[in-house]
Amino acid sequence: MYFDPREDARPEPLSHNPFNALVAPRPIAWVTSIDSESRINLAPFSFYNAISSDPPYVMFALGPKDKAGTPKDTLANVRQVPEFVISVASWELRKAVNQTSKAYSADINEFERAGLTQVASQQVKPPRVGEAKAALECRVSQIIELPGKSDSRNRHMVIGEVVGIFIDDEVIENGMVVAGRLHQLSRLGYFEYDQVEDTFTMPRPEG
Ligand SMILES: Cc1cc2nc3c(=O)[nH]c(=O)nc-3n(C[C@H](O)[C@H](O)[C@H](O)COP(=O)(O)O)c2cc1C
Repeated sequence: MYFDPREDARPEPLSHNPFNALVAPRPIAWVTSIDSESRINLAPFSFYNAISSDPPYVMFALGPKDKAGTPKDTLANVRQVPEFVISVASWELRKAVNQTSKAYSADINEFERAGLTQVASQQVKPPRVGEAKAALECRVSQIIELPGKSDSRNRHMVIGEVVGIFIDDEVIENGMVVAGRLHQLSRLGYFEYDQVEDTFTMPRPEG
């Protein structure tokens, strides 16, 4: 089949929008942010990736909270305090990751709801998830607005420069991060997820 998603996002025989299943797996940014009153927020975002390694930059993107176009707490927070922390979402923490995606009000701390430990960051105010095996402390570099199907449905891409990196010593061997110990969780389409278990190595072609 072939279709133009601007006309119809899921024409027959599709029962659901297939787009996320075609750009998969996507890593999950488990984002901690705080507002100007120092209220802490934690939420997962799978429109996430690295965009440069040296200097390291990451991006994640958000849709609106509701049909009126209210910004999600994470976007409202990074506009107030332009910092965030991305904790690595892993297989072991999958239920907590999911739990923190609930639309709690801004005065609810998702760390408490999901039984997670807040660990202070070194260079930014939002804490990392203590149970996560790695975390990236970030300063907001740019927030880019992307047109949606209507003004209230605009998307926002948050770009951050990574200014601090935490790695649990247990996942490092011979000077490298062992993917099978990090067990990164990723999002596929629909409600499907994957996790990194097996890897293979393929050096760059010579010449
Ligand atoms: C695994 C997973 C990935 C998600 N990815 C996104 C995403 O990329 N963009 C988005 O807007 N919402 C995403 N969500 C939904 C948000 O986590 C959810 O709207 C959350 O309540 C936002 O929290 P906040 O209002 O505290 O910022 C995802 C949810 C889950 C469970």
